[in-house]
Amino acid sequence: MRRWSTAAASTTRLSRSSDLTSVTRRCIRQKYSVLAARPAPVAEQTTSIPPSDATSTVPPLRPDPYTLLTPQLNQLRDRLLNLLGSAHPTLTDIAKYYFLHPSKQLRPLLVLLFSHATNGLGRDWELKKWAAECEGARGRAEELDQPLSRPDVLNDWNPNMPDHTSSFDSVFSLIPPRPPLEPPVPPPHPSNIHSAPSLASPSFLLPTQLRLAQIVEMIHVASLLHDDVIDSSDLRRGVPSAPAAFGNKLTILGGDFLLGRASAALSRLGESEVTELIASVIANLVEGEILQLSKVGQVQSEKMVDARVGGGKESWNVYLRKTYLKTASLMAKGARASVVLGGSKEGEVWKEVAYAYGRNLGIAFQLVDDILDYEAGEATLGKPGGADLRLGLATGPALYAWEEHPEMGPLIMRKFEKDGDVELARDLVRRSSGVERTRDLARAHADKAKETIQLLPDSDAKIALEVLTERVVKRTW
Ligand code: FPP
Ligand code: MG
Repeated sequence: MRRWSTAAASTTRLSRSSDLTSVTRRCIRQKYSVLAARPAPVAEQTTSIPPSDATSTVPPLRPDPYTLLTPQLNQLRDRLLNLLGSAHPTLTDIAKYYFLHPSKQLRPLLVLLFSHATNGLGRDWELKKWAAECEGARGRAEELDQPLSRPDVLNDWNPNMPDHTSSFDSVFSLIPPRPPLEPPVPPPHPSNIHSAPSLASPSFLLPTQLRLAQIVEMIHVASLLHDDVIDSSDLRRGVPSAPAAFGNKLTILGGDFLLGRASAALSRLGESEVTELIASVIANLVEGEILQLSKVGQVQSEKMVDARVGGGKESWNVYLRKTYLKTASLMAKGARASVVLGGSKEGEVWKEVAYAYGRNLGIAFQLVDDILDYEAGEATLGKPGGADLRLGLATGPALYAWEEHPEMGPLIMRKFEKDGDVELARDLVRRSSGVERTRDLARAHADKAKETIQLLPDSDAKIALEVLTERVVKRTW
C-alpha cells in the first residue's frame, strides 16, 4: 500500500484541465442529453457534509450511503424490470419476483458509490465521458439497450423493448446488411496527462456504470434463486421463497434467464476487462457454493484430532475462501469494474482500491451474516436462527468455539446431522467467545476496507463508503 501514498496525497488538489471542445463535429452538434443520469450535485443533496466549525463539539453530519443515492437506486430497480420481459409471462414473473420486495441493494450501492468516488481520476476519464455523450460511441444510455446483433436477427423477445426485438411469427427473408456507420472519432488524448488527477465536478454517473449496477444485482438475484433451491428455503426476507412460490425447476430456469439477460447487458458495455471480471464472478459464485456443499467444516479425519492441531486451520482456510467466492467476489469485482468503466487504467491505484475495499467489506458482511444466524431468529432474518447449522455449515462462531470446546470437532465433522447436534453446537457457541471473535474479525476486515479508501480524494461518496464499513459491522439496516 505504501508505494501508492505519494500519488494519493496529491489527488485532491490540481484539476486535469482538458475540455471537450476537441470532440468530433458530430458530438458537438449533439445535445448532451445522456447525462440526464447525472444525480443532483452532491453539494445540493440533503445529506451533503456541512462546513466544519472549529468551535463546535458536535461531530459533522456524515452522508448516509443510501440517502445519498436513493433516487438512483429506485430508478435503477424500476428500469431493471424492463430488462426482464420475456415472451413467457411466468418466466418474467419469476425473474422479477425478488426485485419486487425491498432489498438492501448493497452491491449496486457499492458500484455507484465507487463511481462517484473515482470518476475523473482515471487516465481515460475524458474518453469515457465523451463516449457517454457522443452518438455512435456506444456509451449512451439509449445505445446500451440496443442488441449486439442486428434487429432482424431473432435473439431475444422482450415485450418491454418491442422496437428492437422481434417475435417469431413472421417468415424470415434475407435482408442484405447496410454498410456500417463510420464510428465517431474520439477526442485527442489530453496533453496534460501528467497533472494530478481530480474528481469530476460536478460529480455524475456514466450510463455504463448505472447499467453495471443493474447487472450486479441481476447476478446476485440469480444466485439467490439457485441458492434457495439448494438450501430448500421456504422463506426469503419473510416472504415465500421463489421455490415455494414457483417450484424448483422454474426457479432454476428463472435464475438462468436472469444470467442470460445480465450477460447480454454486460457485453453491451463494450469493455472486455469488465466482461471478464463479472463473468469470473459467476464462476466464483458457483465455486463458492460447491465448496460450501462439499467441504466447509468437513476436515480430513486424520487432521481432525484437535482444532488447535491443523483441523481448525484447514477449516478456516476453506471457510474464508468460500466466503470470498460466495459473497466478497461480487462486491470486490463489481466495485473494481465500476472504476474501470470510469476510465481507470492499469498502473493506476484506483481500481486496486475498489477491489481491496470490496473484498474486505464483503468478507466482513458475510462474517456478520454468519453471526446473525446465532443471535437472531425469524424476526430479523426472515428465517429461523440456526439455519446454517441445519444445513451442516460450520461458520466463524462454530470454528472459534471449536478451539475452546473440543467436543465441537465431531459435530462439525458429521455436519450436525445427529439428533440434538444443532442444539449442542449452539450451546457450545454460546459458552464460547466464538461470536465476539467472529465480530472482531469482521471489524478487522471492515477497518481494512476503511483504511484502503484513504487513498481516495475527499468526497461525500468516500465518506459514505466509510460509513458503510461501520454499518456492515453494526448491521444497522
Ligand atoms: C446466499 O447464501 C447465496 C449466495 C451468496 C450465492 C449462491 C450461489 C450459487 C447458488 C451458485 C449459483 C450462482 C449463480 C450466479 C446462478 P446463504 O445461503 O448463506 O444466504 P441466505 O441466507 O440469504 O440464503
Ligand atoms: Mg441460502
